[in-house]
Amino acid sequence: MAQPNGYSSRKRRYRYQQQPAGTKPAEKRLPKIFFCGDPHGQFDQINWAATQFKPDAVVILGDLQPAAPIEEVLGPALAVTQVWWIPGNHDTDTEEIYDRLWKGPIAAHNLNGRVVNIAGVSIAGLGGVFRGQIWMPDGPVNYQSPAEFLQNASRVNTWRGGLPRRHRSSIFPSVYQALMRQRADILVTHEAAGCHKKGFEAIDRLARAMKVKRIFHGHQHEDVTFAPYKGLRVRAVGFRGVVDIEGNVIVEAQIDPRDLLVMQQAGMEPSPEVFDTIDRMPIVDIFSSHPVRRGEKGPFRDRRRDEPRKDGRPRQPRRSKDRK
Ligand SMILES: [Fe+2]
Ligand SMILES: [Fe+2]
Repeated sequence: MAQPNGYSSRKRRYRYQQQPAGTKPAEKRLPKIFFCGDPHGQFDQINWAATQFKPDAVVILGDLQPAAPIEEVLGPALAVTQVWWIPGNHDTDTEEIYDRLWKGPIAAHNLNGRVVNIAGVSIAGLGGVFRGQIWMPDGPVNYQSPAEFLQNASRVNTWRGGLPRRHRSSIFPSVYQALMRQRADILVTHEAAGCHKKGFEAIDRLARAMKVKRIFHGHQHEDVTFAPYKGLRVRAVGFRGVVDIEGNVIVEAQIDPRDLLVMQQAGMEPSPEVFDTIDRMPIVDIFSSHPVRRGEKGPFRDRRRDEPRKDGRPRQPRRSKDRK
């Protein structure tokens, strides 16, 4: 089966399939769980990875922005595996997006604010983002909990009789502190940990308190491994990328279209590698739930970050200059 980026799967068999069971009897065999960076309305990469490798589970790290019902956009993945998710800041942008996630077929698989045993691994979720109106670490707490916010709701807009929709993707201290009292193997967040220049040490403190070993996060649209970091492995999963539980690339992340725009506006010439991706990239307004693709070509890059370039030079991790 061909990858959505045109790559032949026969050239790169997934290593879990190559490793015979029992070859490392003393080592705990990690489950095949895939972690998926911000889809922003596009799910082909997740459906492809799920149907090709049949993972035990996939976890989507926020900013799903489904443009159609979940059973349509994630149908192939749902047919072969369990799909878990945390909300991102854009998942409360519209009523349609909110209802597809919070009321659709994966509503009960929202990991935000809880720890769930998934395929034998305990995974904690902290979705959403820090917002100053609620709490911006390490500043003062304006509202400890949704209940406290609503007590003052006479001066603010409520939505459907409860929190404003926007704050349903905001991090409240009460949710954060409840997680701190629990233990987990893995923490998934939308916000980045402190190792990222726009990350939060509050995420580091949460990971330490929960004694997690690994953090996977989205939001920054960068595909980077920070390890070791404070005794943790932190995996930033890039825009529409998919990685396994050890951080290995399953589907390579795409360039954030906004990064390309920033480079062009700054008069910078993107590297040849970036140009390679352009005619395969969708033109997407990622603040909209309706992606528009250029032509009929597939949206994915045709090469993997862990393969050498044609001239033999190693590929470098991609770091964005501007985070949004
Ligand atoms: Fe985000
Ligand atoms: Fe995002």
